[in-house]
Amino acid sequence: MDVVVLGSLNMDLVAQVSRLPKPGETILGDRFTTVPGGKGANQAVAAVRLGAKTAMIGRVGSGSFGKTLCEGLVADGVDISAVSVSDRTPSGTALIAVAPQNNQIIVVPGANGEVGQDALTALTQCVEEAKVLLLQFEIPLPVVESAAAIARAAGLMVVVDPAPARGPLSDQFCQHISILTPNQTEAGLLTGVEVVDGESAIAAAHSLHQQGIQTVIIKLGELGSVCVTAEGVFSTPAFSVKATDTVAAGDAFNGGLAAALCQLGVAEKGELSHDDLKRVVIYASAASAIAVTRSGAQSAMPTKSEVETFLSAQ
Ligand code: RIB
Repeated sequence: MDVVVLGSLNMDLVAQVSRLPKPGETILGDRFTTVPGGKGANQAVAAVRLGAKTAMIGRVGSGSFGKTLCEGLVADGVDISAVSVSDRTPSGTALIAVAPQNNQIIVVPGANGEVGQDALTALTQCVEEAKVLLLQFEIPLPVVESAAAIARAAGLMVVVDPAPARGPLSDQFCQHISILTPNQTEAGLLTGVEVVDGESAIAAAHSLHQQGIQTVIIKLGELGSVCVTAEGVFSTPAFSVKATDTVAAGDAFNGGLAAALCQLGVAEKGELSHDDLKRVVIYASAASAIAVTRSGAQSAMPTKSEVETFLSAQ
């Protein structure tokens, strides 16, 4: 096993709209689709399509959404033996409005909110053979924090996507994070720094790094990303593509990051030089750039050969 994802599985209820509604306003949508999503499951699909052997740990409801979510992961080759089924709570759902330039998401956690000790036991059983743990914030935060501690103690790289962000991270949790990947809004919520450009992003990243996180990568969408480590700071420009649907762009990035860490063997070494880090960030950015040109969450995730073709054409 290369990558373990402990996180959410959601059914995405997606409306395509020409613009997002204002508070209290009703607007007409153009198209409705129901597609598999959830930040955890999206990252698992991204990683497995990019060639990493991937296992998912999470929880779904016993209804048709849960069945479809599990079948989708299996079809992509993700090991779901540690995805449990709740007979009292329905699967997580996400209500998503996708407009040409932006989107809005409301997540109702459902069974994701029941992820607990069983999931940590499953993680403990597979950390010996894994290299990277991917975490997000759509399951209870104490479970995320315990998972990070378990994985770091076993020598895994712990990559945390703090989405949706819920305020400052504890210093103890930060000690267990190898790479943190907030977007602009999340970096602001985590640090209190208003992130509006590269300079303010670097300030926010420094503040998170000082809390004990080894590597902080702030995802800035069209502005690319900034990265702060003990070695210093670097920026990576975004690839220029025509974005049609930015849902799960961050998940493609994190799945790409995990796959690239495994491909380069840096996950085994447990240390990241800036040269290695630049390579994995470029790979992750390419995966994300391809994903935003496609509709949906898991449906948008590229394969390894698509990313390689994309990179060699740049
Ligand atoms: O990151 C995108 C995802 O956020 C969607 O698939 C939705 O389920 C929410 O979790």
